Amino acid sequence: VSEGIERFGHGGDVWTAELVLGVPKEQLLDFSANINPLGPPASMRAAIRENLARITAYPDPKSRELKTVLARKLALGVDHLLIGNGAAEILYGIMRALRPQKVGLLQPCFSEYAEAASVVDAEFVTVFAKPEHGFAPPIDELVAACEETDLFVIGHPNNPNGRLLPLAGLVQMADALQRRGSYLLVDEAFYDFVPNAGTLLEQLDEWPNVILLRSLTKFYSIPGLRLGYAVARPELIRRIERELAPWGVNALAQAAGMAGLFDEEFERATLAWLREERPFVLQGLKNIPGVQPFEGEVNFVLFRCETPELQKWLGQRGILIRSCAAYPGLGSDYYRVAVRSREDNLRLLAAIAQAVEEV
Ligand SMILES: Cc1ncc(COP(=O)(O)O)c(C=O)c1O
Repeated sequence: VSEGIERFGHGGDVWTAELVLGVPKEQLLDFSANINPLGPPASMRAAIRENLARITAYPDPKSRELKTVLARKLALGVDHLLIGNGAAEILYGIMRALRPQKVGLLQPCFSEYAEAASVVDAEFVTVFAKPEHGFAPPIDELVAACEETDLFVIGHPNNPNGRLLPLAGLVQMADALQRRGSYLLVDEAFYDFVPNAGTLLEQLDEWPNVILLRSLTKFYSIPGLRLGYAVARPELIRRIERELAPWGVNALAQAAGMAGLFDEEFERATLAWLREERPFVLQGLKNIPGVQPFEGEVNFVLFRCETPELQKWLGQRGILIRSCAAYPGLGSDYYRVAVRSREDNLRLLAAIAQAVEEV
């Protein structure tokens, strides 16, 4: 893995891909990062242009205007919100604030949960979602693991398999953790793509031990600008905020975030695109002999394929997909692809079909 395209743990690393594949990064069609192909919305691009002059001053250290807009949208008080330089920054702040000794993870999951936990030298309690069950989260095992952790981190929907838990399962986890004075962090970075996913947001006041983490980088296609937020009870928000350096959220990100949150048309267009394209990609993968996609709910698809070195074969032909070899519980025959435009998806499916036939 240290030699692979994901040597720094993530998709979307076209710099390393260029080195490994020998293909200029500008020529790679990137299915390895799960970014909305419709964005960024025109409203956000305009906000960035209009606010360019603001970079000569410090940004609002508390992102107050953005928080006000977000609080209105989520129907909660501004004191329940923390804005960060991407969800990733807040994740590290949470680990420093809570200093958990034992962190529960449902593997396979986003690698930064473990990376961030290792900064505070945490040990892990690991539950596995299994391919033979389509990676469905095993709720009883999750609740049992909560009984022995200080913090459980769960992706909802989970990356890389796009799976969800019933809301009742999240409640059971929150309850088991609360009874022992422990915390639940639900990473909802992809929540906007699945707005009917079920969330503890509306019942947050009952759960002083729950933190929800969200990102604007995927849905609004601004991973290079960075913007994320956390939602929790005010006491907890204040504890996490103390861990973050001031001015972490730059002026352009704050302005873009406000514009994006108002843009309901973009939201509708994205959900309409995903309703068409996700089943299209899933079915297209199913139709290729030897390719086994897993059902999920979100803007990416996990699949299994035994064609050796599929990532390299596709990469040399200008299509970058995510190898899942390094995820605990997966292996070198697992891959993840983002859902993109119809044209791009057709190109991906044709290339995979060709690889399976020729290699
Ligand atoms: C599940 C998950 N959570 C959080 C993040 C980080 O998001 P951000 O770009 O807001 O830091 C990612 C990025 O890949 C992710 O996949």
